[in-house]
Amino acid sequence: MTSKDSLSVGAVQDWLGLAGRVCVVTGAAGGIGTEVTRQLLSMGARVAMLDRDALLLNQAIQALQLPGAQVQGIACDVTDQASLVSAAHLVQASWGPCEVLVNNAGALYPDALMDIELSKWNQLLSVNLSGYLLCAQLFGRQMRAKGRGAMVHIASISASIPQPFSGAYSVSKAGVKMLSQLLAVELGEHHIRSNVVSPAMIRTPMSEGIYLNPTVLRQREDMVPAGRISTPKDIAESVLFLASDRASYISGQEVLVDGGLTQAWLGLVPRPGFEKQDAVTSA
Ligand SMILES: NC(=O)c1ccc[n+]([C@@H]2O[C@H](COP(=O)([O-])OP(=O)(O)OC[C@H]3O[C@@H](n4cnc5c(N)ncnc54)[C@H](O)[C@@H]3O)[C@@H](O)[C@H]2O)c1
Repeated sequence: MTSKDSLSVGAVQDWLGLAGRVCVVTGAAGGIGTEVTRQLLSMGARVAMLDRDALLLNQAIQALQLPGAQVQGIACDVTDQASLVSAAHLVQASWGPCEVLVNNAGALYPDALMDIELSKWNQLLSVNLSGYLLCAQLFGRQMRAKGRGAMVHIASISASIPQPFSGAYSVSKAGVKMLSQLLAVELGEHHIRSNVVSPAMIRTPMSEGIYLNPTVLRQREDMVPAGRISTPKDIAESVLFLASDRASYISGQEVLVDGGLTQAWLGLVPRPGFEKQDAVTSA
């Protein structure tokens, strides 16, 4: 350890070091996207919020209420290459090359594989997977020119565990994991890292309908070792870490932010004689 590396108590003011970084968040008007944006801005980063829903985007920016924040909303559909190209030009012209990309825009629809129409299958893949590739290409080229960058892709635990009757969703998220691993390998020499954050159950506009039923809410909470459904804040904190230089030697990895859910399933299998015993309180 050199004297330059030594730390003293209270010396680290900006541990993540994201101040001034040019960041792009897709699906930024949604639950996770808005919170990731809020946390990046609170670290002093500059954030371009991309979303296809211009009205929602406007409302999300108004709701941020962070005076002095450097933020711009860009209405943009990640399935439309031309729309993404102009968004990328706008970011570059305003602030210079993108240094952090958070690939987050996503959709989910119920569908059985035996019945799904090819057009719906392709539509979901074009948002959840091809859209991630297009963003990685356009903003990755800016990072390559800059000589550094970090990509964080939002997948899901359903990338590794099949989520039935959800059409192409699990397939798209499994694709995101491999896309991220490939990007990590192909772009590593340009000092660009690529990682995945995989959430489990979060309350956002995408999932809110499920949680309006109190019985379902309680059943879901009981399945999670952490005892609660996660919030966008839980996800955003992991995203910021992976986007920052504090994760500078982490690339091609997946972080599960699931409250332990994926470790819990053996405990859900009936096993007479091995049930949880009620706690005995001593007098
Ligand atoms: N909510 C959950 O329980 C959960 C669990 C695991 C993974 N995820 C993933 O997290 C990510 C964010 O989801 P969320 O829960 O915040 O959902 P959300 O519905 O609140 O936000 C998604 C946002 O993406 C935008 N979007 C959709 N299609 C787009 C397109 N073609 N171009 C540009 N923007 C588009 C929407 O307008 C919306 O603002 C998604 O990738 C989702 O698959 C969510």
